[in-house]
Amino acid sequence: MIDFGKMGGAVLRRLPPETAHRIVLKILQFGLISSKHQPDPPVLAHRCWGLDFNNPIGLAAGFDKDAEAVPSLLEQGFGAIEVGTVTPLPQAGNAKPRVFRLGEDDAVINRLGFNNHGVETIAKRLARAHPYSGIIGANIGPNRDSDDPFEDYRACFTRLAPLVDYLVVNISSPNTPGLRALQDRDSLNRLVSTLQDRRAGLSNTRGGSIPLLIKIAPDLDERSRSHIASVALALNLDGLLVANTTTTRPSHLQSPARNEPGGLSGRPLFQSSTSLLADMYRRVDGSIPLIGIGGVSSGDDAYIKIRAGASLVQIYTALIYRGPSLISQIKSRLAARITADGFDNISSVVGVDASDY
Ligand SMILES: Cc1cc2nc3c(=O)[nH]c(=O)nc-3n(C[C@H](O)[C@H](O)[C@H](O)COP(=O)(O)O)c2cc1C
Repeated sequence: MIDFGKMGGAVLRRLPPETAHRIVLKILQFGLISSKHQPDPPVLAHRCWGLDFNNPIGLAAGFDKDAEAVPSLLEQGFGAIEVGTVTPLPQAGNAKPRVFRLGEDDAVINRLGFNNHGVETIAKRLARAHPYSGIIGANIGPNRDSDDPFEDYRACFTRLAPLVDYLVVNISSPNTPGLRALQDRDSLNRLVSTLQDRRAGLSNTRGGSIPLLIKIAPDLDERSRSHIASVALALNLDGLLVANTTTTRPSHLQSPARNEPGGLSGRPLFQSSTSLLADMYRRVDGSIPLIGIGGVSSGDDAYIKIRAGASLVQIYTALIYRGPSLISQIKSRLAARITADGFDNISSVVGVDASDY
């Protein structure tokens, strides 16, 4: 397992967040950090959508938006890497500064606005790095100035489906105006149906039908939750990612940057995203795999997410504060908790606490 070391981490945290992130991606991209492979404990192996995950801990979208470091990121021990959000055309995103560390709160606020190199460049990069040693997902979205967001999703879907193992439709970023409105029942119905029609002639990297998932916001009212669950069930959606960053600001936040506009991630998102996860699990009656995201920073947190209804878990913000050694810590603690509670595999843990929220 690699680590940037305490000193490297401290130096990086003194730099502006985006600069530090660029450096980390470059270090990974050029293989400048060696990594020792520890095989994952067998109890963490998990099959979902016919895909074999070595472990359920994935890297959330936004870390490697442009698929620049996928093989090295897999070597860090993730069960899956989700690239993106990818839009059809390259776009610069919002004005800087647009990422803020909330160190006192173990949190981050970002208003990046889908800065990315565009689907063509990213598709070529993904194709060059094939075959991968793990599961790869791609998260797609529309360009900010798009006249037809549905066509944007369709274009990204068509280009990336043959190159990845699963596709995530991002309708929940708070930083693209109008995007979250796609969570409304009629829009969601139209969007999922369009992509499912498109999928008929496409297969994923393993020759199967590509799983299509939706990433939702943590800030959904009762009506939206119910609509999303009913569309997901009616259209046999493959999965939901719960959740993206929040536009709310819990009153307990301490950091000076707490009122910056954008999406809040990290520790303050843990409770609300976990209770939404359990709620969505109950609404779909455990019939659709959910990916639990939001504030996971330990094996105990990951275990709570799985017990609340997550088949898989993703992390991002905790990595900024804790570095890549966190991945193996999460996995070994998670395996210990599962085994200590007498479970043989992850499937039997998923959702056991969903009714407690
Ligand atoms: C700097 C930053 C950029 C992000 N970019 C994206 C993105 O492009 N697409 C997306 O779906 N989520 C994005 N996210 C949200 C994460 O994927 C994740 O849903 C969220 O941060 C909650 O997880 P965490 O608390 O472990 O960070 C981003 C998060 C951060 C902190």
